[in-house]
Amino acid sequence: MPSKCFDYTIEQIKAMGKDKTKANFSKLLNLFFVPVFPVEIKREIVSSIGRYDYNDEIYDFISLEAFNNNNPMELIYQMFRTCLYKARDDKRFEDLRKRIKNYYDNEVINKADDFYNFKEKQTVNKISKPMLLVGDAEKVLNILPDNSVQLIFTSPPYYNAREYADYSSYHGYLSKMKSILLVLHRVLEDGRFIVINVSPVITKRIGREFESIRYPIHYDFHKILTEAGFYFIDEIQWIKPEPSVPDRIGGYRQTRKPLSYKPNCITESIMVYRKNADFLLDKNMKNKEYDRHEDEEIDTSNCWYIAPARDKNHPAVFPDELARRVLKYYSFEGDTILDPFAGSGTTGRVARAMNRVPIMCEINKEYADLINKAMPEYYNQYYNQEEAKSKCEEINTDII
Ligand SMILES: C[S@@+](CC[C@H](N)C(=O)[O-])C[C@H]1O[C@@H](n2cnc3c(N)ncnc32)[C@H](O)[C@@H]1O
Repeated sequence: MPSKCFDYTIEQIKAMGKDKTKANFSKLLNLFFVPVFPVEIKREIVSSIGRYDYNDEIYDFISLEAFNNNNPMELIYQMFRTCLYKARDDKRFEDLRKRIKNYYDNEVINKADDFYNFKEKQTVNKISKPMLLVGDAEKVLNILPDNSVQLIFTSPPYYNAREYADYSSYHGYLSKMKSILLVLHRVLEDGRFIVINVSPVITKRIGREFESIRYPIHYDFHKILTEAGFYFIDEIQWIKPEPSVPDRIGGYRQTRKPLSYKPNCITESIMVYRKNADFLLDKNMKNKEYDRHEDEEIDTSNCWYIAPARDKNHPAVFPDELARRVLKYYSFEGDTILDPFAGSGTTGRVARAMNRVPIMCEINKEYADLINKAMPEYYNQYYNQEEAKSKCEEINTDII
């Protein structure tokens, strides 16, 4: 896109906005009405006009031009920004801000307005010691303060896919998951990420004459995640070597009969969502120290090729390497990492190796005991069911 037009470049317009003479101001106002200027030059003109203190003229200018339907929305947004900024000291711009917002009432304007209204409400409660909680995540996580976790990474129980899954209906399963997501939303720091590993599951059929049901869990998780207050950022595909997954294509390979095609499923979804916040991600990254790890490989695409893992004690573990990448890209050293469905404790083990503070929660006491046994000195706050129960009672909460 050329930034030069009729002898004016964006840089020159910017310079006029900085060199605040009355002559420059009048020139900028006139330049705005030159019809042939491209929108990016005009946007810079509006932005530069807004930097002056001539509020009477600026107010008159925006009062007319913000409601001129011939102006592209990019210019209107810039005028709206000027109003947000000037409204701090000049009441007229507050009214103008409201009028523009009501007139356009679109997502961009509303988002900018939310951002402006955001008052520093950071009550980050940092947890500095590893913790292992035994019980139902919906209940035991109540002992954690608001905004106390910087990343949630987990793989929820798969509806009826494994022996531990025990829900009377898919709807009941989703409803339980949503209740837990609401708790996770409370404990996650504003603007931080929740990363969920899921894949479609199939329910067992009781005979060949019946059809088995396949559930696209990740689609339904999108709905409950957004209802709980998170929004979509990315979907990463975890891709496994084909020989490592159950064979579904055998039947078709033999018959080549259309409709009987069932490809081998070598991917799982890694759903990346952010907790709603009225501020940009920049704020979550501000003042964080980190090592650049110059020579470390970067995953440049959303396809991650990682072999699956097995564990003799747990039927559904994810590999350390998957946790390592998620923690590397979505958390800083020293951050508190929560896995509400800890299983064999993969997330906790990797978090420890990467100098993060893990909080693990697991409903199955045997699995929890195994996690604790593997690192007895580490989980210095191990709450078994009874202890967690009393902790919850302290804050008037029930536990299973
Ligand atoms: C898919 S596995 C997690 C495996 C884990 N990512 C690993 O690598 O070992 C899900 C775990 O969630 C646990 N779980 C199921 N419902 C739970 C609940 N309501 N609260 C806490 N844990 C639960 C199950 O016992 C199971 O161990």
